[in-house]
Amino acid sequence: MENTREKAQSWWSHATVYQVYIRSFADGNGDGIGDIEGLLSRMDYLVDLGVDAIWINPWYESPLADGGYDVSDYRAIESRYGTLAHAEELIGQAHDRGIKVIADLVPNHTSEKHAWFREATSSNVGHQSRDRYHIRDGKGLDGELPPTNWESVFGGPAWTRLDDGQWYLHLFAPEQPDLNWNNAEVKEEFASILRFWLDRGIDGFRIDVAHGLIKDETFPDIDLASAKLLESSQMENHPHWDRDEILPIVASWRKILDDYDGERMLVAEAWVHPTRVGRYLQPGLYQQSFNFDFLEASWDREVFHTSIQKSIEAMAPLEADSTWVLSNHDVMRESTRYGLPPETDWRAWPMEGPSSLLDAELGSQRARAAALCMLGLPGSCYIYQGQELGLPEVWDLPEDVLDDPVWERSGGKLKGRDGCRVPLPWKQDGASAGFSESGERWLPQPEHWGVLSVEAQQKDAASTLNLYKQAVALRKKFCGADKAFTWLEGFPDEVLAYKHGDLSCLVNFGSSPLPLDAIDNVLLKSDRTHTAELAPDTAVWFL
Ligand code: GLC
Ligand code: CA
Repeated sequence: MENTREKAQSWWSHATVYQVYIRSFADGNGDGIGDIEGLLSRMDYLVDLGVDAIWINPWYESPLADGGYDVSDYRAIESRYGTLAHAEELIGQAHDRGIKVIADLVPNHTSEKHAWFREATSSNVGHQSRDRYHIRDGKGLDGELPPTNWESVFGGPAWTRLDDGQWYLHLFAPEQPDLNWNNAEVKEEFASILRFWLDRGIDGFRIDVAHGLIKDETFPDIDLASAKLLESSQMENHPHWDRDEILPIVASWRKILDDYDGERMLVAEAWVHPTRVGRYLQPGLYQQSFNFDFLEASWDREVFHTSIQKSIEAMAPLEADSTWVLSNHDVMRESTRYGLPPETDWRAWPMEGPSSLLDAELGSQRARAAALCMLGLPGSCYIYQGQELGLPEVWDLPEDVLDDPVWERSGGKLKGRDGCRVPLPWKQDGASAGFSESGERWLPQPEHWGVLSVEAQQKDAASTLNLYKQAVALRKKFCGADKAFTWLEGFPDEVLAYKHGDLSCLVNFGSSPLPLDAIDNVLLKSDRTHTAELAPDTAVWFL
């Protein structure tokens, strides 16, 4: 496959985007919770890493029932993170350094503490304020059964009963009531929220649960036995995922963005079948959609090959570019995932074990190889904070510190997502490894995390941090959205081999080393050796 690009270029076309999970990035005021001041104090770190943009997870006022994806005021900054003035300062400081800022917008649901939901639940049945949400009578003689059998993504029923007997829909936690996107006020309000942040210089929005906004107004039951299967396949007409009526809403947002100066973008968090992603990327809609193939890909040459091929093919007829995501705040960190046998259910493993399944060293070696595999590809690469340090999943967090609603909603079967949200280690020493000057931290870090700290890795030329830094710079120099991508022939079956622009990449998924004698211009190897061979589970870049 040869693919030469002739698409319009924008700042995101070949961007390296760094995801900031603000609560765990850096604490500026010593209360153990990351905040905007902490982020401001580390801007030079991001410049040094060479990223083009940052995506900041929700920073709005929130009770933090779901880590900020439960917003109670979309125009205010959560006080634990700072103030609106801090946010404005951050946008300005990022722009001064040539870094774009992507905010995280949560339109599918609000917090139960949002003024609208308070009004709805304190008003009489039938009051118009209730129409902003999905509040309905139940089934059964006394309405004692939920309106449908839909399940919450976090486990348990998707409906909760109010004191007055009606039920409200929440595809996620009960603290996150779903908005009714057929309500005119909802549409107007979000148009205004977009403008509020665009006026303050936000360059783009990551749209949370982009595939969930519209529900089938007839509220049918789902065949739950086949729902799992159907969701991950090409299911037409699912009652609450991936419905066609979502697209006109996106078009209205896009018009708003296009009215602003500069290039503003929308990136969709849409968990839909790869064959349906293109619908979101039609002209006048999203410019990008996350491609989550890598998040779930096992360490296997065919799996990686297919997922790269599929994405590049899918984007070819579209204006959009591929996106690549090895990890984010919702999944197990890849350096742990790759250390587990391929058939392991990594969501269940932290509880089910056995812990002896994990080969942490192997996982971290593969994660470094995966980094080179990803960073050489055409399109945007999203790096989740800590990935550049090779942080492992903290899968053994004590149960009494777990904060993710998944833990409770799954009845303690799934540990949830806290293990990838542990505060970053910045320094070698100190109680919180430099996350907070006071030593406080909202989740405990493993002992000896200082060895993985930014400070320790900056001193070590062969560290994962330095690998990322070099790779990000070389990616900028030798690849580009306008450069051709092609698979390289003539390598063993277990080696993934491609060329993008001037850069060639080999990843050894096999079990025997590959001699590299014929290659002169090695740019970077994912392992620490300088030998003329490509060891198993490593990658190399060359010209
Ligand atoms: C998205 C977020 C996740 C959140 C959910 C509900 O999937 O990435 O963290 O829990 O939406 O808002
Ligand atoms: Ca703080």
